[in-house]
Amino acid sequence: MTAMFANNDRSQTSETLDLAGIGIGPSNLSLASLLDSVGTIHAHFFERRSKFDWHPGMMLPDVELQSSYLKDLVTPVLPTSPWSFISYLVAHKRLYAFLNAQYDAVPRREFAAYLAWVASRLNGLTFDAAVRDVSFDKDRFRLRFDNGSVVAKNLVVGTGTTPFTPSWAAPFLGERCFHNSEAFFRLPSLNAARIAVIGGGQSGGEVVEALLNSKPALKELNWFSRRHNFEPINDTAFSNQVFSPEYVYAYLNLNNDQKQEALKASVLTSDGLSISTINAIYRRLYTLRYLENRHIDAKLSPNRDVIQVGVDKDGYRLVVRNRFDGGVEVAHADAIVLATGYQFRLPDAMAGLEDRIQFDRNSRLMLNDDYCLNWNGPKQNRIFAQNAGRYSHGIADSQLSLMAWRSAHIVNSLLGHDHFDLEPHDSQVNWLSSGHDIMVQSMAVDY
Ligand SMILES: Cc1cc2nc3c(=O)[nH]c(=O)nc-3n(C[C@H](O)[C@H](O)[C@H](O)COP(=O)(O)OP(=O)(O)OC[C@H]3O[C@@H](n4cnc5c(N)ncnc54)[C@H](O)[C@@H]3O)c2cc1C
Ligand SMILES: NC(=O)c1ccc[n+]([C@@H]2O[C@H](COP(=O)([O-])OP(=O)(O)OC[C@H]3O[C@@H](n4cnc5c(N)ncnc54)[C@H](OP(=O)(O)O)[C@@H]3O)[C@@H](O)[C@H]2O)c1
Repeated sequence: MTAMFANNDRSQTSETLDLAGIGIGPSNLSLASLLDSVGTIHAHFFERRSKFDWHPGMMLPDVELQSSYLKDLVTPVLPTSPWSFISYLVAHKRLYAFLNAQYDAVPRREFAAYLAWVASRLNGLTFDAAVRDVSFDKDRFRLRFDNGSVVAKNLVVGTGTTPFTPSWAAPFLGERCFHNSEAFFRLPSLNAARIAVIGGGQSGGEVVEALLNSKPALKELNWFSRRHNFEPINDTAFSNQVFSPEYVYAYLNLNNDQKQEALKASVLTSDGLSISTINAIYRRLYTLRYLENRHIDAKLSPNRDVIQVGVDKDGYRLVVRNRFDGGVEVAHADAIVLATGYQFRLPDAMAGLEDRIQFDRNSRLMLNDDYCLNWNGPKQNRIFAQNAGRYSHGIADSQLSLMAWRSAHIVNSLLGHDHFDLEPHDSQVNWLSSGHDIMVQSMAVDY
């Protein structure tokens, strides 16, 4: 049985594909955009959503991109591509207006519109096509959908990260206790006088800002962060070197323990709060208190680990450990937003292959330097994984910054030669001991 798809691309999916992609988020969209310039690889990508939609549950008012718009789907490796952010602006006749707007950070709505514009024009993408199951027989992967299947020689998993909810939250998940990934849909109808937001990363910050701006009935807001403080993103020149190919090449030379240490040390280059979000929250609290004389009991509590939630006659009862002084506190709320992060996991559709794939002792995927999984199938049938290499390739892997560069590695690997020039530039920072040559060759695994 062969899949028949109604989509923005009518290309053939009945033959064996060179590459089948699961998921169309920015990562696989970048790969599809680069493959479009190559032309010789027969690839097709499948997305469960009915159209491209970039984290729709977090499209809160005024949210901004945390990275440069030049780190788009293609520009860092193929600046002449028609699928760049600049091409989008030109096509929409607003390049000058965009420049005149002098954004410090691009609105996320604008970048999402750019991504959707590419997705609506590029060949080789099919929406409304959830991959339900992947199997392998002899030398072919078979991807099954609700209405058929396709076969492919290679796979690329681009299903992104999954919202993480602590186990104690599971019994309460619903309209009054939800992950921030549902915020856009749930906040408008949320009617609660006391709200607790758990998690002090950018998602937590954006939810807190939205609550302070949109909920006149809010009387009490508890914001818990497990970090030492409401930590800002480290967005300075030297820190940003970790978002460079040179850093990744250096990082790949480390052993697992060294990688863990380096990752820990670089977390806030990626996962801290944007300065604009910090300022917006602080100023809103100032305005409410001193200029509008509106009292919201805003309790901002860093160093707090929420360890248990229950329900009593006073609503949700949160048990919180204070990591600063060791105390244990209790707080109450009528609603809880879990801004507790995201994790990579293989999609359920891959369950049938899981016992053929290698995981480390922490149940993380063993990702080779060229973004291929270690699996016990034939060497020429590869399973690439995007946005799965935070531990193996460093902090940048879970961000947009190096997605074009990573996609270019996958293209080179599929072609078996250096179609894209990915030689490192001179680094401003010496990461490795002198005499230690960066192992660029390690990316080129021999198949
Ligand atoms: C709210 C938010 C904002 C962010 N903003 C930035 C930023 O400004 N700058 C930055 O560098 N990073 C940012 N990030 C981090 C990262 O860049 C994004 O998470 C990015 O979306 C990752 O892209 P992706 O394609 O790997 O995954 P995703 O965007 O999650 O896309 C995965 C896609 O796979 C689909 N899918 C899943 N399972 C299946 C299946 N079985 N079959 C078919 N399709 C499937 C999903 O529907 C989804 O569309 C942000 C993260 C979040 C959560
Ligand atoms: N506009 C944007 O560009 C935008 C918007 C949202 C997100 N993002 C990006 O997306 C990524 C994910 O961001 P995120 O904020 O969703 O996740 P995150 O950065 O991982 O933050 C989640 C936080 O929740 C904390 N946490 C987890 N369980 C907790 C508990 N039981 N009690 C208290 N705290 C708990 C974690 O603590 P620990 O630190 O101890 O693990 C962590 O600090 C980041 O890279 C971020 O920059 C970007």
